[in-house]
Amino acid sequence: MMNPWILLACLCSGVQGLTGPEQVHIAFYTSPWDISVSWITFEQAEPSLSFGTSTSTMQNVSGTTNTWVFGGITRHSHSVILKDLKPSTQYYYQIEKRLFNFRSLPANLNSYKVCVFGDLGVYNGRSTQSIINNGIAGKFDFIVHIGDLAYDLHSNNGKLGDQYMNALEPVVSKIPYMVIAGNHENDNANFTNFKNRFVMPPTGSDDNQFYSLNIGPVHWVGLSTEYYGFEEQYGSNSIFTQYNWLTKDLEVANKNRENVPWIALYQHRPFYCSVEEGADCTLYENVVLRHGALGLPGLEPEYIKNSVDIGFAGHMHAYERMWPVADLKYYRGEDAYHNPVAPVYILTGSAGCHSSGMKFSPIPMPWSAHRSDDYGYTVMTVANKTHIHFEQISIDKNGDVIDSVWVSKDVGHLHTQRMREDVGGFKFY
Ligand SMILES: [Fe+2]
Repeated sequence: MMNPWILLACLCSGVQGLTGPEQVHIAFYTSPWDISVSWITFEQAEPSLSFGTSTSTMQNVSGTTNTWVFGGITRHSHSVILKDLKPSTQYYYQIEKRLFNFRSLPANLNSYKVCVFGDLGVYNGRSTQSIINNGIAGKFDFIVHIGDLAYDLHSNNGKLGDQYMNALEPVVSKIPYMVIAGNHENDNANFTNFKNRFVMPPTGSDDNQFYSLNIGPVHWVGLSTEYYGFEEQYGSNSIFTQYNWLTKDLEVANKNRENVPWIALYQHRPFYCSVEEGADCTLYENVVLRHGALGLPGLEPEYIKNSVDIGFAGHMHAYERMWPVADLKYYRGEDAYHNPVAPVYILTGSAGCHSSGMKFSPIPMPWSAHRSDDYGYTVMTVANKTHIHFEQISIDKNGDVIDSVWVSKDVGHLHTQRMREDVGGFKFY
C-alpha cells in the first residue's frame, strides 16, 4: 500500500483541500454505546451527519461546532454524538458526500483488544501503516494514543496536525481513537490544538485532558502529566482539578470492582524508566509526578492506595515492561504477574517520531522485566475478568511479537500494603 504520508500529500493537493469535511475520527463518549464523531472544515458548515444501519435508512443527527483560530488559520471543529448504539451492529455515517462506517462492540465485552502506543509523528511514523492495516482488519477494537501526536499538532500553524489526522483517518474513522496530551501538545496556547481537535469522555470540566470510562471488565483512566510539565507556564489549578477528580473517580471505581475488576491508567510521562534521558528519567524515576513537590500532589500514591492494576506511559521512545513496582520497590519473581502486589507499568513510546530512539542504561535495571528499542506498539488483550495479555509488536521485525506476558488475578484480588510487606520486595537503590 502507498505510504500514507505520500497518499496524503496527493489528497491535500486538491481532493479534500480546504473545503470539505476532513480529519474524521470517532471516540467513545460516555460508554462503549455512545460514540462521538468529530471532523474539521475550513469553511463554515453544519455540524450534522446522516447515520443509520444501512445507507438507505440514514437519519440526520446534529451536533455542535467549535470555531477556533490558530496561527492565523480558522478551523471549524464539528462533533456529533451517536447515542444508544446496539451491540455488534454495522453503522454507516455520511458527512456531506463522504461515507464512513464502523461496527459497534459486542454485547459481551469481557474480551476485546486494544492498540496502545505513544509518540507517533508524521515524520518517521514507523508504526503508522501497521496500525492502519491492523486496525482496519479488526485486529484491535480501539486505539489508545498516550500523548505526543503528529510532532506536532500545531506545527506549521496546525497544518502538520491536519496532515496527521488525515493520514490516520482510514482507521480512526472506523475504530475509536482515545487520546491524551503529551508534552508535544503544548502549542504555547495552552493546548489549544489538542482541546479543539478531540472530543473525549466528559468529566464535568471543560477540559478533555483527563477522563475515565468503563469498557467491559476494565475501568480506563486517561490523565495529563503535562499539567505538571507546564505548571510554570499555565499554573497549578489544573493539577488540583485533575487530582481531585482522580481521587473521587478511583474511589468510585474501587467500589465497583465486582463488576469492573481491572483499573488501567494511561499517562504520557512515566513514573519509572531506565532510559538514559535527562530530566524525566532522573534517577530512573519522575519524582514530581510520583509524589509531588512544592505543595503539588503526586499521582503514584493514588495508584497504590486504589490498587491500580496497569499503568501505561510513553514519552521515552522505547518499550519497557516493569516488574510490579510501588514507591521505589519492585516485586520480581516467577509468579510476580499473578495477583501482582503492585501496579504493572508498561512504557510504550516507540511508535515512531522524528526524534531517534533513546538509549537504555547499559545494564538492565533489576525492576525492568523486558526492554526493547525497536519501533512498535502494544496490543493488550482483555481476555476476561481475571486475565489480560500484553504483546509488543516490533515494526523492525516485520510485526513479530517481541515480548508478551499474561497478568492475572484471582477474583477479588486487590494489592495492599500488607501484601507488599509480606512479600518484601527489593529497593530500587
Ligand atoms: Fe513526550
